Amino acid sequence: MSIYSKTSKSLSKLENILIIGNGGRENSLAWAIQKNELVKKVYLIPGNAGSERINKCERIKIDINNKNDLVERLDFLKIDLIVIGPEIPLANGLADFLRKNKFKVFGPGKDGAKLEYSKSWAKDFMQDANIPTANFWKVNSLEKAKEIIYSSSIPIVVKADGLASGKGVFIPDSKDECIRAAESIFNGKFGKSGNVVVLEERIQGPEVSVFALCDGKKYILLPSAQDHKRLNENDKGPNTGGMGAYSPAPLLTEDYLDIIIKEIIEPTINELNKKNIDYKGVIYFGLMITESGPKVIEYNCRFGDPECQTIMPLMDQSFVLLLEKCAMGKLTGFEKIDTTDKVSGCVIATSKGYPQEYETGFPIKIGKIDLTDCQIFDSGTCFNENGELITAGGRVLSIVCQDKDFDMVFEKAYKNLNEINFDGIYFRNDIGHQVRKNFSKEN
Ligand code: AMP
Ligand code: GLY
Repeated sequence: MSIYSKTSKSLSKLENILIIGNGGRENSLAWAIQKNELVKKVYLIPGNAGSERINKCERIKIDINNKNDLVERLDFLKIDLIVIGPEIPLANGLADFLRKNKFKVFGPGKDGAKLEYSKSWAKDFMQDANIPTANFWKVNSLEKAKEIIYSSSIPIVVKADGLASGKGVFIPDSKDECIRAAESIFNGKFGKSGNVVVLEERIQGPEVSVFALCDGKKYILLPSAQDHKRLNENDKGPNTGGMGAYSPAPLLTEDYLDIIIKEIIEPTINELNKKNIDYKGVIYFGLMITESGPKVIEYNCRFGDPECQTIMPLMDQSFVLLLEKCAMGKLTGFEKIDTTDKVSGCVIATSKGYPQEYETGFPIKIGKIDLTDCQIFDSGTCFNENGELITAGGRVLSIVCQDKDFDMVFEKAYKNLNEINFDGIYFRNDIGHQVRKNFSKEN
């Protein structure tokens, strides 16, 4: 049961909401936010073709880097709450700028976004707060990296320090491969993001994503999710932004959650406070449940994609009120999120070649789809000059379904996927394999 009811009041006016970003994540946020009857309009900058199918949504063309114009237009639109989706504008300090201009913003400032945009800083942060994570070394030259890799007796993961669109992590099988990875980063594969390389002890265990909505001091947790990062079935192939997800993750038992809260979530928020970082946004904890307990693999300063698409349909109309409370520093920390009793799953359809080179511009054909408890959130689409929906990104569509159990969820998702086509469409058939009881029978 939630403390909210249909008549829940907002703390302030909440008619016009702005979401910044252009992916499936932002479309799913818009979809969840518009459910609240107080919300009259949800603007997206820039959104994508799919945003136009969402109730109350309108895309607006504004260059967020043209700061004066941005403030003028947002004042004109009487924006009551701004939600910043992706990490790049957060890392560039957009939330700070908008707050200075008196907007209510859900999204951390540049200082908080550092949890994501500098892996080496995040590792030091965890060390300062005694938060369990893999052992690590920070290096700023290939020579130093070679020294550590050759002398190490444990398998090592190689990471570019800065933002790299989910592609800056290498999990090599040999020392030579480790060195080649470090070399490619130092040679500028990720530009300035690779000025520092983090070498990490390779740890093992299932992964789970936990999201804390945070108002600077207090927090509440969303349902957990499990993402599928690898491109191919059986969790093989290169890492991607995410090929599918399911929520909640049964792996995260009450016992684990208690440990995670005590050893990871609360120490993180306390350490942010200790460092005078007023974090108003979501903290994404990428965790691995190892034999010696849960450890942090990474922090992100935003919602996961496709975890967000998966979780949003479980939210009721009070979701936007929670974002508002976070933005205003007014969470009690006792809010209960009213989720449905259903579970949710998402399968991502990608362009052929993703996460490497891929072509775009292929028409997307969508056949007969039953949209009861099913959402199609566009991730990378646009319209061509004839008004046809075409592919415009590596990840193209997020197909999300809810039902009583995960077998039903994924049966529906894959049935609907059969109705969708574009040249080179690719998706994994085993999303949710961990929680689909019928999975081995089907395959
Ligand atoms: P990240 O972008 O840091 O989340 O890393 C992407 C993926 O690489 C993670 O989801 C893990 O599957 C894997 N990974 C990252 N760091 C480690 C590590 N220290 N040990 C094992 N796997 C890792
Ligand atoms: N799904 C992983 C991420 O958003 O980083």
